Amino acid sequence: MTDLVRDPALLESIVHDIDLHTDALFTWDYERSRTALVKLYEKAKTSQWNATTDLPWDTEVDWDKLADETAAQNQRFFILRSAEGSPLAHWGDKEWRKLSMEMQTAVLSQFLHGEQGALICTGLITATVPWVDAKYYAATQVMDEARHVEVFGRYIDEKTNGAYPISPQLGSLLDDIIADGRWDITYLGMQIMVEGLALAAFGFMHMLTTEPLLKKLLRYVMSDEARHVAFGVLSLKEFYEGLDEAEIRERQEFAYEAAVRLRNRFMVQEVWERLGADPKAVISFLEANHDPGQQMFQTMLFSKIVPNAKKLGLLDAGDGWLRKKFTELGVIQFEDWTDTTEEYAELDAVAADRG
Ligand SMILES: [Fe+2]
Ligand SMILES: [Fe+2]
Repeated sequence: MTDLVRDPALLESIVHDIDLHTDALFTWDYERSRTALVKLYEKAKTSQWNATTDLPWDTEVDWDKLADETAAQNQRFFILRSAEGSPLAHWGDKEWRKLSMEMQTAVLSQFLHGEQGALICTGLITATVPWVDAKYYAATQVMDEARHVEVFGRYIDEKTNGAYPISPQLGSLLDDIIADGRWDITYLGMQIMVEGLALAAFGFMHMLTTEPLLKKLLRYVMSDEARHVAFGVLSLKEFYEGLDEAEIRERQEFAYEAAVRLRNRFMVQEVWERLGADPKAVISFLEANHDPGQQMFQTMLFSKIVPNAKKLGLLDAGDGWLRKKFTELGVIQFEDWTDTTEEYAELDAVAADRG
């Protein structure tokens, strides 16, 4: 244990502060009037799980086996290994296997930092949202997010070579969501955009990995995340109905800007540095040797966000500005996919395992 209070330089190196522009709200109206939120809150109480005892932490991760699977699934590996002029042409099996583990760790590290962002946002919502039903629900989400930070942190610590720092794009998006202070913007940024994207990203990794600990961890985290996204949709739907056109337009613009930053969020520069390769050379090689699978993956990450934005009325409000923007981004095709207010009960893996 280090003494952070007496060592400001050390404190400075491990914390990041954000000025809050918000008020904490008491409410004296304790009536339970929002039935959908009441139902969600009951679900959250019965689907709590314990990261210490519900996950098989003694699993030995077979990184060599996973590396072979990654190489078969990920077209970028094939391009880097075999396309002419690759700056990694001299690499042997050992390096390629290491790359697979570092890529996975880099993604899990962004999950970890995003989870901490969710923890902070939801703590804020308990204080800033005016409705008692939402305060109750948000309190359960605070516990969920603490558990998510715990599980990703423990996985990275015990099973990998250690975490990567937060990517600048994700960091600045989280800063903006937290600093804004208006409670509905916290929800829009976190529950709809960041958690909507996370739900899709966790689903992908869950589908592709055969590593039993990670698979179960993701399945349980997703079952919580689906409730969180549903919480955002249920809370905002009511609020947005009372906003005027200019206010809605501001939310549409916020959602679009978040989408652009989330799409570009993943920089693997540090992975190449950690492996002793020249990041500039690798990144420009990858830009020149395009991987169509990557494009499809980036698009699929919006498969939860777009139907939820539609359910909130954000796509078509005003002159349909957000519909145009999501069309330009190439993600509008998801608009009629299942929205998360219907999906969260299906994704409740914890309840399913308990029978
Ligand atoms: Fe989470
Ligand atoms: Fe969450």
